Amino acid sequence: AKRVRIPHLQEMKARGEKWAMLTAYDMYTAAIFEDAGIPVLLIGDSASNNVLGNESLLPITVDELMPLVRAVSRCTRRPLVIADLPFGSYQASPEQCFHTAVRFMKEGGAHAVKLEGGIEMVPQVRKLVSSGIPVMAHIGFTPQSEHQLGGFRVQGRGDNGPVLVEAARALEAAGAFAVLIEMVPADVAAQITAAVSVPTVGIGAGSDCDAQVLVWQDMAGLRTGQLPRFVKQYADMHGLLHKAASEFAADVEAGVFPGPEHAFQS
Ligand code: KIV
Ligand code: NA
Repeated sequence: AKRVRIPHLQEMKARGEKWAMLTAYDMYTAAIFEDAGIPVLLIGDSASNNVLGNESLLPITVDELMPLVRAVSRCTRRPLVIADLPFGSYQASPEQCFHTAVRFMKEGGAHAVKLEGGIEMVPQVRKLVSSGIPVMAHIGFTPQSEHQLGGFRVQGRGDNGPVLVEAARALEAAGAFAVLIEMVPADVAAQITAAVSVPTVGIGAGSDCDAQVLVWQDMAGLRTGQLPRFVKQYADMHGLLHKAASEFAADVEAGVFPGPEHAFQS
């Protein structure tokens, strides 16, 4: 299968074809998502609270995310692999951003990076793009700024809608190849999508975005408990694994596993 590249995503927008993006953090899930035809995989900093056990996205480091990026890029052939830049690894300056992004490309094998922020990230995006590093922008609710934003809240209501449209335009002009829009009213996301010629990727941003993304553990029902409104569960992975582990334990306790077919004879 031929590698998905940035121009393919632009062409899909021009043709009005929607596409799906998922997070991936390891080899088996990445390979399954590739087989399922997902064209873009994101190694999100959401690995912080979906893989590493942290309560938020803030603690994850570049060194912690790097092996996950490497795993996904090694075991896939077709999807575009995007590495998320962790909190604190790019905000300080375009140079800091450049060095972090280069590590994800050279050590991690990523094809592109994603960073959070609006108009204030234009210098970072310019620096990366002028260095040959494709960048996906991420606007609206930006989880790395949860403390600044006062928690997980919808962004872009009222007067802030036009601010987001302008941010998307500025990021496109700076060279971003796509704009991810998180937790923004559907009508505002539709305005943004119409205002830029690069694809928009929505999460909690309604159905008019050019693409949609979900965290795979949310999409597949591995995570339980209170879920954000924007999540749709397509499977019950939690139930499936819970059942398998319980049955394994019960078999061992009952002496039923291993059977003769699982044992070696002398
Ligand atoms: O880290 C992540 O999973 C993300 C998604 C919400 C797009 O940034
Ligand atoms: Na992220």
